Amino acid sequence: MNLKSPPRHIAIVMDGNGRWAKERGWIRIKGHEQGAQSVQECLTACLEVGVEYLTLYAFSSENWKRPQLEVQGLMLLLEQYLGNKIEEMNRNGIRFSAIGRLEELPRSVQQCLHKAIAATAHNKKLTLTLALNYGSRNEIVDAVKVIAQKVAHGTLDPKSINEELISEHLYTAGMPDPDLFIRTSGEYRISNFLLWQLSYSEITITPKLWPDFKKEDLLAAIEEYTSRERRFGGVQ
Ligand code: IPE
Ligand code: IPE
Ligand code: MG
Repeated sequence: MNLKSPPRHIAIVMDGNGRWAKERGWIRIKGHEQGAQSVQECLTACLEVGVEYLTLYAFSSENWKRPQLEVQGLMLLLEQYLGNKIEEMNRNGIRFSAIGRLEELPRSVQQCLHKAIAATAHNKKLTLTLALNYGSRNEIVDAVKVIAQKVAHGTLDPKSINEELISEHLYTAGMPDPDLFIRTSGEYRISNFLLWQLSYSEITITPKLWPDFKKEDLLAAIEEYTSRERRFGGVQ
């Protein structure tokens, strides 16, 4: 697909893995396993169209409430995914990144994350960011703390606090805001994802469950996005 102005940044809430498994009478983790395939499909679509940033909500700061077995399964899946995909990411020019309170994740997961980040740091085509133990309100709290410390130490003048400065103190510093926000599984909510950054994102909600979301689905969402008129509060 050759598009004139594809979204630079797509953010996805990958939802519906549990329901996908339940429909088949399987345990929830089977849905998460299958969901990893959809990640691959989306990466292929993004590379094809020239999307520069793909940010995926993989584990929220609220997901710790889930049964221990599911949380452990998700962490293991993440380790396996990162362990297996580094070579492929390097082949495809994918830089891996992660946002969230990573220091609260199991140590083995943190090690895998840092390894993947370091091994792919030189890649330039597409930045794949996983949001892990991520909560947008936590992110804002963390940013405010750092900004307040700088003011207290006299290294920051409160008068110079503006939108750019706040953006620069979020986990997503240096990334453009998402142009397109997608949520699968037909839920009409943001669930504490990128509250600041989504201010002017175009929204697509699809009833498809995440494991059923394929390359063609993302390409269709991107194509539909390109036909929208973004006004940013102005008039056209
Ligand atoms: C999304 O799928 C994946 C994570 C939150 C880790 P869910 O596990 O939330 O699936 P449903 O919403 O219960 O179907
Ligand atoms: C959002 O999905 C988090 C991720 C996809 C990682 P949830 O399934 O946790 O969200 P709610 O509970 O439906 O709001
Ligand atoms: Mg869910």
